Amino acid sequence: EKGGWSSFMAKEISEQPEAVANTIRGRVVDEQVVLPELEGLDEVLTDIDRIIIIACGTASYSGLVGKYAIEKWARVPVEVELSHEFRYRDPVLSERTLVVSISQSGETMDTLMAVKYAIANGARTLSICNTQGATIARESDAVVYTHAGPEVAVASTKAFVAQITALYLFGLHLARLRGTVEQGRAAELVAELRAVPDKIAKVLESADEIDQLARWMSDSRAVLFLGRHVGYPIALEGALKLKELAYIHAEGFAAGELKHGPIALIEPGQPVFVVVPSPRDPGSLHSKVVSNIQEIRARGARVLAVAEEGDVAVLPFADEVIRIPLAAPLFEPLLTVVPLQLFAMSLATAKGLDVDQPRNLAKSVTVE
Ligand code: BG6
Repeated sequence: EKGGWSSFMAKEISEQPEAVANTIRGRVVDEQVVLPELEGLDEVLTDIDRIIIIACGTASYSGLVGKYAIEKWARVPVEVELSHEFRYRDPVLSERTLVVSISQSGETMDTLMAVKYAIANGARTLSICNTQGATIARESDAVVYTHAGPEVAVASTKAFVAQITALYLFGLHLARLRGTVEQGRAAELVAELRAVPDKIAKVLESADEIDQLARWMSDSRAVLFLGRHVGYPIALEGALKLKELAYIHAEGFAAGELKHGPIALIEPGQPVFVVVPSPRDPGSLHSKVVSNIQEIRARGARVLAVAEEGDVAVLPFADEVIRIPLAAPLFEPLLTVVPLQLFAMSLATAKGLDVDQPRNLAKSVTVE
């Protein structure tokens, strides 16, 4: 079952290269993304003027990553909302609104009720789901399955990377239909995406180094996570993993928000993970995040940077640097989340906690 691993979580984290590869498989034709399950929806997808992504927990953070990619490629406005907020606020919906639900189990009651609400109010629905034949999948107009395989550990890891992958595929499918990404560029993006599984395998090689770091930090009272652009949802997910698995108070922030509040939390010794954007990113976000690192370091923070190989700008200011291989900026979340998952798991293990079955949590919450 656990196949020699100490926990399902350890096993599932290690299965992430396959989870991504399996989600891509069969969905690329002539270097373009084609989702056969959306055949017949061409007209609907060309006609929609808005996408609302609904989900809970980790799945909602995959949605936040998806927003950046879908808007960039398909030029359709995307909002991301928690399922349990969505249906209680009288949202504006029409037949040109596509509500995309994301759920590993496909049974989360809050998300199911939100999907039913969307249908009753005239929206079109698509679900991204990991469990074949789940209720949410059956209720929706169409389903794109993630092929992460069964996920046993309560806190989600491999389903998360598979959800992000499915959202990238959906974004590229939509872009092809709407003619918003030129074919040559789309083929380059597909090639980049296909290269991700091997890069995740590379990140997994730093497991021992991260385990050591987590052991040293096992008495931490609070840990902060900063990220920007697609690194922002990853900061949120890194914090959630640490809460769920290690019961440590953790918060994720958008790095640009630092001076608007969170910097007040920085005192000597405060550990802060920083997901550093690629220095190759044309938006110059890299240098902005490096200045954030300098600002918190000057106030005594202990900086743990997750940065691209060869990024030397972080070296003078970071206490620890965890390296990820080079990838196209939008695909980086599939790599940067891995050390944060490993960190939370190792720290929980160092505290003697059950990483597969954290207290008070359930894998699938089928009550509201
Ligand atoms: C929570 C789980 O209850 O539900 C999380 O503990 C999960 O791990 C969230 O992210 C959403 O679940 P699902 O099945 O809808 O993706």
